Amino acid sequence: MTNLHPDLARIILSEGEIQERVKALAAQISSDYANAERVYLIGILKGAFIFLADLCRHLTIPHVVDFMSVSSYGKSGVVSGAVRLMLDLRDPIQNEHVIIVEDIVDKGHTLNYLYHTLQGRSPTSLRTCTLLQKKRDKLDVPIDYLGFMIPDVWVVGYGLDYADKHRTLPFVAELKREVSGIS
Ligand code: PRP
Repeated sequence: MTNLHPDLARIILSEGEIQERVKALAAQISSDYANAERVYLIGILKGAFIFLADLCRHLTIPHVVDFMSVSSYGKSGVVSGAVRLMLDLRDPIQNEHVIIVEDIVDKGHTLNYLYHTLQGRSPTSLRTCTLLQKKRDKLDVPIDYLGFMIPDVWVVGYGLDYADKHRTLPFVAELKREVSGIS
C-alpha cells in the first residue's frame, strides 16, 4: 500500500470503487437515453473534469461534451449562496437533452444556480449527475444520477482539491481538519 500524503486523514473511496460506480452510472445513462439523438454533458470546472472524462468514455450513446465554470462566494464562514458565471457554454442547448455533471454537491448552491440557468435555455430535458453528495437536510435541486453519498468532511482527489492540491489523486480522501482549518 502506498503511503498517504500527510495532509490526508484516510481514503474514503478507492480507485476501484470509483471506477466501478462510474461505469454503472454510464450504463444507466446510456440505457435512459438509448432513444435520444444525443446527450449534452456539461461538466462544471474545475472539479468535474476527471469524473466527466471517465464517465463519457463509458457511454455507449452519442454525446457532446461542453463545460461551464462558476465562482461562489461564502463557501466557508458566512454563506451567501451567491454564484457567478465565469465561463459559459459554447453553443445553445435549446431542444437538447442535457445532463449537468458535477464532482460534488455540498450545500447545493452551485447546482441550484446552474439548474435554473440552464432550464431557462429551453432544453428538451435537464438532469443532474454528481459523483459525490454530502449529507444535508434539504437540497433545492433534484439529483438524478448519484455516485456516492459521503459524510460532511472536506474531501480531495478525483477532481476535488484543497487550494488546488490533490486534484489528480485517483481516489477520494478526507483532508485532515488541521489542514483545512475547518472544525
Ligand atoms: C465545488 C464543486 C461544486 C461546488 C459545490 O467547486 O466542484 O461546483 O463546489 O458546492 P455547493 O454545493 O456548496 O455549491 P469549487 O468552488 O470548489 O471550485 P472547483 O471545482 O473549481 O475547485
